Amino acid sequence: PAELDLTPYTSSKRKDADNVYSLFSVVNHQGKMDTGHYTMYAKHRNEAGPKDPRQPPVVFSWIPFMGNAVEFGINPIQFLQTCQKKYGDVFTFKMVGKKVTVLLGADGNQFVFNSKQNLSSAAEAYNDMTKHVFGREVVYDAPHNVFLEQKRFIKAGLNTECFRQHVPMIVDEVTEFFKDFKKPSGTFDAYHTFGSLIICTASRCLMGKEIRAGLDGNVAQLYYDLDQGFQPINFIFSNLPLPSYRRRDEACKKMAELYSSIIQRRKAENDNTNADLLQALMESTYKDGTPVPDKHIAGMMIAVLFGGQHTSATTTAWTLLELAARPDLIRALREEQIQKLGSLKTDLTFDNVKELTLLENCVRETLRLHPPIFQMMRKVIAEKVTFEKTGHDIPKGNFLCAVPGVTQVDPTYFKDPLKYNPMRWVDLDDPVHNMEAGDDADVDYGFGAVGISSKSPFLPFGAGRHRCIGETFGYLQIKTIIATMIRMFDIELEGKGVPKPDYTSMVVVPEKPANIKYTWRE
Ligand code: HEM
Repeated sequence: PAELDLTPYTSSKRKDADNVYSLFSVVNHQGKMDTGHYTMYAKHRNEAGPKDPRQPPVVFSWIPFMGNAVEFGINPIQFLQTCQKKYGDVFTFKMVGKKVTVLLGADGNQFVFNSKQNLSSAAEAYNDMTKHVFGREVVYDAPHNVFLEQKRFIKAGLNTECFRQHVPMIVDEVTEFFKDFKKPSGTFDAYHTFGSLIICTASRCLMGKEIRAGLDGNVAQLYYDLDQGFQPINFIFSNLPLPSYRRRDEACKKMAELYSSIIQRRKAENDNTNADLLQALMESTYKDGTPVPDKHIAGMMIAVLFGGQHTSATTTAWTLLELAARPDLIRALREEQIQKLGSLKTDLTFDNVKELTLLENCVRETLRLHPPIFQMMRKVIAEKVTFEKTGHDIPKGNFLCAVPGVTQVDPTYFKDPLKYNPMRWVDLDDPVHNMEAGDDADVDYGFGAVGISSKSPFLPFGAGRHRCIGETFGYLQIKTIIATMIRMFDIELEGKGVPKPDYTSMVVVPEKPANIKYTWRE
């Protein structure tokens, strides 16, 4: 809210507000946090503001230890935008004992994503949680230079030759997945459905035929148990003596054993013509000549699964929900296929899916409005880091937080930012095309050029040394699924409007109900 009435907090309620329980008095009847009241109340009490002028201002919070966790948890984008209006682009808030310094805007993105390895670290921010899911000695549990080599292996395995084989596999999986859906029409829950579909497509293309075949049985349970160890709570409490944590650890061990047995069988039977990532990793060698041990391969495979699964599932769900609200776009997408591919019956291939640029822009626009990972963290490991633009020092132990989820809806960078408008990506009047980007897009940290400047306001795949290497596969998979589905179905929203975001999972998912109504096409 722009203007806030402070009277509720000036008299009797003032006392309530001093009480921890009054937290709930600013949660309105729909359970939504009124962050405006929160911060205005802070202003009223004059308790917010920097203690050390060299350090960023600190967002007021009533509750020791928990800090602003509740407001952040309910609607982080709104919370951060409210803080941005009050404090500017740089501020620190507290959350469950952690101090998080947020750096907004294109310069904030650049500062966080380009931070040097000896100044701030992603491993320090994430490894407490990820090492239990991916296993040891991989990703953030490996020395940084080894992790960069591991990223190089994965990227090399995601190549055009494999993608050519992946497209027909994905079409096949989509067709098989929906074939028994009720005729002539019905509804499905978007996120749940694409979660189930993507696990099939990603397993088939990346994890290997053995894992795909095991999806109906024990592999699904292992996935599930690992997933239960990859929830926001695990970021806060990485190891508790609870059954879910025990099952996570067992699943991680069993998954490593399963991969090891698959690798041994492939080697023994000379089964080496697979177009999956597993095969590529089996053929990789570290720079010092060491072959990649089975347990590293297993860890990387699990990391890839978690890097790509929920992100792709939610992006596919949001894309279809946005399209279901826009029959004009669906018509245009079918027209695009007819014009570029000849008909809606032409087989989809890696080369012709590349031609579908409107479809690509629809997915891109979805990633702008609904980035699955809207913020990224690093932990300061040097005594301090200085954000030159404002002169702020950020001390050791603080988390640095870049938030593409805020820059991607900032009117400074996007015209009419809350509108789902795939055409903005070809409209040169949109301010995003006039941004002065940095010249760091060509930097190669060891896994090829990053391909985008960290100063871009549009970073759904991150930037710099931790940039995503699954982007091309991600786009290809989502485009192939949507291109196939609009051939099979007419779709519309079941409810009124595109659902609101739910921020309580590891990725931003559509709030339930998020149903799509489909009708089979002739
Ligand atoms: C990194 C998003 C698909 C593998 C990242 C990061 C983001 C991201 C934001 C940067 C994290 C950070 O800086 O802290 C997405 C989205 C996807 C997607 C939105 C789909 C729509 C995939 C897929 C794979 C994958 C399909 C694997 C095939 C990875 C890996 C990293 C990464 C290995 C590197 C992490 C690091 O260096 O710290 N992704 N991703 N992602 N992603 Fe993705």
